[in-house]
Amino acid sequence: MNIDTSPNLIDLALGQPQRPRRVFIETYGCQMNVADSELMAGILQGEGWEKADAPEDADVILVNTCAVREKAEERVFGRVATLNGVKYQRPDVLIGVTGCMAEHLRDKLTERAPWVDLIIGPDAYRRLPDLIQQAEAVRTDPIIDIRLDREETYEGLDPVRKEGITGWVSIQRGCDKFCTFCIVPYTRGRERGVPPREVLRQVRQLVEEGYPEVTLLGQTVNSYRYEDVDFADLVEAVAAIEGVKRIRFTSPYPIDFTPKLIALMAREPKVCKYIHLPVQSGSDDVLDRMRRGYTIAQYRQLVADIRAAMPGIAISTDIITGFPGETEDDFQQTLDLMAELRCSFAFMFKYSERPGTFAHKRLADDVPEDVKGERLRRVIALQEQLGAEEIQRWVGRVEPVLVEGDSRRSPDQWSGRTDAFVTVVFDKNVPGVQRGDLVNVRIDRASAHTLFGQIVP
Ligand code: SAH
Ligand code: F3S
Repeated sequence: MNIDTSPNLIDLALGQPQRPRRVFIETYGCQMNVADSELMAGILQGEGWEKADAPEDADVILVNTCAVREKAEERVFGRVATLNGVKYQRPDVLIGVTGCMAEHLRDKLTERAPWVDLIIGPDAYRRLPDLIQQAEAVRTDPIIDIRLDREETYEGLDPVRKEGITGWVSIQRGCDKFCTFCIVPYTRGRERGVPPREVLRQVRQLVEEGYPEVTLLGQTVNSYRYEDVDFADLVEAVAAIEGVKRIRFTSPYPIDFTPKLIALMAREPKVCKYIHLPVQSGSDDVLDRMRRGYTIAQYRQLVADIRAAMPGIAISTDIITGFPGETEDDFQQTLDLMAELRCSFAFMFKYSERPGTFAHKRLADDVPEDVKGERLRRVIALQEQLGAEEIQRWVGRVEPVLVEGDSRRSPDQWSGRTDAFVTVVFDKNVPGVQRGDLVNVRIDRASAHTLFGQIVP
């Protein structure tokens, strides 16, 4: 932002040196939340606000929260308590809680953190400047806006992106799947697709700002629909934009992965050959109680179709251990499935009961905490082993790598990612290469999580 921050004479004469107000935004949870924080920053920047580098320098502190697991919520409560310390120094500072916890825990928040001034749900960000103004005027009770809105897609707003190589574009909001364990449909509301014209506008803008890669975001990104445009159509239109070098998307939902999408991914080189495909469990009984809508046979067939169309494609997944009723045999099926799928990595969680969900209301949280924990350790150990074996398959190959910047280890080396989302550290053995370039790298060796190599001139 180019805002002149020097106080002018009139302000000085009035004893009121004016400076733009500053907001500090802290983000918890998924990529969609990161994108929402960028959106809030954009909305406030449009009103003349600046970004504060630390909570201590801010006029307003926003904590953008996640409610997916209880642990995430507890972390936020701890953090909000710490931030209250800033108020002792500067009582005029406002603290806001935004996102899923605001939606889910409005009452608990006002009880446990009465110093919070703003409670703002994921569909109310357009009203952020107004809500802040109201909070500044009131200062006693919190200003609360947690209305969910079936229409809101934040069309026409420009997020302030964080620096990096990939630009996040939310193409869908909410979720309609209602998996029995999951709070998201309640906190983020009904599924809506962002109009294609808006998605394309944002992608063009990202290209102009120099982002070579875009990541399309949605809770079930591939169930995207807007009028007669489906997800494959949208990805194809994004790929047609000149300057887009790479396209990623997350997370697709297994039952909405169409043959049309597989065919597009196979023929479109800009679409990365990597899919995060959450399976959650290897047991049909557990999947049924989760209401995921697929069986293991169907999931297996989908992976087979994907791998037949794109040999070598990398797949990662999400696993939950200790879902209600999960027996040792169910759990063993999860381990067996993991060994069969050979994912490059996985996000693995202990089941966490979420108030308001079907599982909370109807299914006893009957797997003891220590068993959930022990199963989690077992899936993590297995995945570590599988991941370490899987990464070796890249050794000896030449892979296109998008240069992200200097490696953390040494300024003489670059760091970047392969199509399959694996980090590669490689020598600056060819001059003229820049951040954002796609280069071919010969992979010489692998550690458990990182590849190492040389640019092929
Ligand atoms: N839309 C995504 C999931 C969003 S939540 C999808 O299904 O593709 C991200 C992950 O958190 C889920 O895939 C699931 O593995 C995990 N998760 C969600 N609710 C949970 C709960 N109550 N307990 C434990 N893990 C949970
Ligand atoms: Fe949650 Fe299932 Fe939607 S995990 S986000 S309800 S797809």
